[in-house]
Amino acid sequence: MIKIIKDVVKIDTEKSTMLVRMSEKAELLYFGESINDETDYSFLNFGCAKAIFSSADNTDATPSVLSFVGDGSNRETSTHIVGNDGFASFRFEVDKFYIAEKFSFDDGLPHSKNATEYLIVEYKEPKNTVRLIQYFGIFENSDVIATGVKVINEGKTDLFVKRLFSIQLDLSDGEYTVASLRGSWGEETHETVIPLCYGAYTSSSFMGLSSNVANPFISLNRSGGERFTIAANLLYSGNHKEIIERNKQSGVRILSGINDYLLNYKVAPSNSFSTPEGIFVFAENTEKASREMREFVCKNIANTTFENTERPIVINSWESFGFKFDSERLYELCDYAVDCGIEMLVVDDGWFGNRNDDKTSLGDWFYNEAKIGGKLSEVARVVKSKNLKFGIWFEPEMVSEKSSLYKNHPEYAMKENGVEPIRIRNQIVLDITKSEVQKYIIDSISFVIEDCNVDYIKWDCNRGLTEIKNSGSYFYDYVISLYKILDVLTRKYPQVLFEGCASGGNRFDLGILYYMPQIWASDNTDAKERLFIQEGLLIGYPQSCISAHVPSRQNMHTFKIYSMFARFAVSAMAVLGYELDLTTLSEKELTEIKEYNAFYKKYRKTIQYGDVYQTEKVKDGGRSVISIVDKDKNNAVVLISNIVHDIQKVPKNVKVKGLEPDALYSVKTVLHKDRIDERLSVSGRTLEKCGVNIGNISVISDMMDDTGTVSSEIMVLTKVIRG
Ligand code: GLA
Repeated sequence: MIKIIKDVVKIDTEKSTMLVRMSEKAELLYFGESINDETDYSFLNFGCAKAIFSSADNTDATPSVLSFVGDGSNRETSTHIVGNDGFASFRFEVDKFYIAEKFSFDDGLPHSKNATEYLIVEYKEPKNTVRLIQYFGIFENSDVIATGVKVINEGKTDLFVKRLFSIQLDLSDGEYTVASLRGSWGEETHETVIPLCYGAYTSSSFMGLSSNVANPFISLNRSGGERFTIAANLLYSGNHKEIIERNKQSGVRILSGINDYLLNYKVAPSNSFSTPEGIFVFAENTEKASREMREFVCKNIANTTFENTERPIVINSWESFGFKFDSERLYELCDYAVDCGIEMLVVDDGWFGNRNDDKTSLGDWFYNEAKIGGKLSEVARVVKSKNLKFGIWFEPEMVSEKSSLYKNHPEYAMKENGVEPIRIRNQIVLDITKSEVQKYIIDSISFVIEDCNVDYIKWDCNRGLTEIKNSGSYFYDYVISLYKILDVLTRKYPQVLFEGCASGGNRFDLGILYYMPQIWASDNTDAKERLFIQEGLLIGYPQSCISAHVPSRQNMHTFKIYSMFARFAVSAMAVLGYELDLTTLSEKELTEIKEYNAFYKKYRKTIQYGDVYQTEKVKDGGRSVISIVDKDKNNAVVLISNIVHDIQKVPKNVKVKGLEPDALYSVKTVLHKDRIDERLSVSGRTLEKCGVNIGNISVISDMMDDTGTVSSEIMVLTKVIRG
């Protein structure tokens, strides 16, 4: 609920309170655990840096939710706008503020759905040429707050936006740690925690995609046993920047939004510019902040058509066949897949143009009949007749120079006159800001969806932007254009499940999730590497949006060998699929897959939509324990993986959180069936505080064969007596 108490706005979420005093500034008086309504908040005056000598010296020290160039700051500011004449010292002041049920967005960007109320703050400046509108939205049963800023040019000449962050939160000084998701190709989203020092910590991307180097999710924890975590994220898929700056005078400032790298966005008179939406949450610890974020993403961001829908188990042709397939090979794969309980075939790269390697044909979205041996629509028909769904891969934003699209429309490609474009994976980027290119993409994809009756699309993007046309706005316009295309396609074909991908997880963000409810987390399918990647993702994203596939026994990227169970157990903590040539497997392996799929389907709802508790992380001690508890606390699935064969060590108990404390649960182990006496039942409280000991889960055969060293077990808990 949002209320106004004298000059203070009190924003109450389920368990947190934010107090903003409206003076000239919107002063952030408090952000933390819920507090009571008071009749007056003047007792917080001195928190806002009333200076001993001269208040003018101290404007910097007033905590606020917006700052600007020339405001006296000796630190990073959220806003930098420049007039046509180079004037930059716009002195923004709060003009008015009000509570509204709705906020009308007209910016082509994705926004969180279902906000119940908004606080809207309008800022003006003395020349009355620029107006800023900032909003804060709150949601039912959530602690997440959504925010953003819009600039309106009310003057007679152009304005240039050089920086405009979505989130600013000023906190008092103290010892904090910052957690962010860092990586590279094949090593995405590793949770990286460092102490916050004096100076600025930044996390950012520069390549036009949200990037695998630094994900837009961040969290800040106050150290020393204080119950204080703030996590933030952005609904944006392009260049982003998070700055957490700590200084002795003013404390800590969190900023998050579009990266100001090359930003110089022209706003003509009467026009506006909007930031992407930022979301942030206060919670008493990281676990709770992560849970708030995951739930919020499911309920209020991710494409709602698929909310709570069980996602199919796929077999994908990429790590099964690469570019080498025809209809017969696909049919054979399908026969095996059906037998194993798999539910969808995804024909990955190679079905179009003359595509037999990665050097040609991107953009030629017509069937590679010579290779397939007929029309893909016929393949789709046969696949569906086998009781499988049909999915397909596209890389719509790209073009190969060896393609008929490029031959007929060289002007569609991102090229600067006379300058050779940089080729990455032999391809260049289409200029999707052009409406004719948007139309080409929408028409090509629509044709295939309709002709093949497609159920699923994997939308890939295998390179970043390097030809930076009109650099002041290109990165932003590119993202807006991508959203426009996705908006048209997802509205036109609401039944199609889209999966995002960008060389694995190079664009894993909330902007993509708004349209495509799941994303391929990484090209690295090695079980051990995936543990780090998926554990990292789970601190900011729900498991239902992480796509994870069981690869072949010897991993094609790392050449390490893993047991089928370990590969399954690691993929089963998210949306399960397979990428291996089923036709070459032994009877024993096929039987295993069949059994595991039956298990996964039985608990799929719990696994994909239950509450996640990461009680142990592989990065902290070599063992990963993830419990997923369904909403009514009747069932829980616990996935345990060791990356060290600790044969000499006394095995630690496995603790399970989130159960009903006084209810009794039966405990079963899936792989080592004899570890726990099935007749026993254990209370939720004991399972949480003490845990159960399932012994050493390393398997001798794993230790001999499994050069990748992952041993896994899955425990299933079922409520037998209510508490
Ligand atoms: C990217 C994707 C892979 C696969 C290939 C196909 O690398 O991340 O999953 O689709 O492209 O070329």
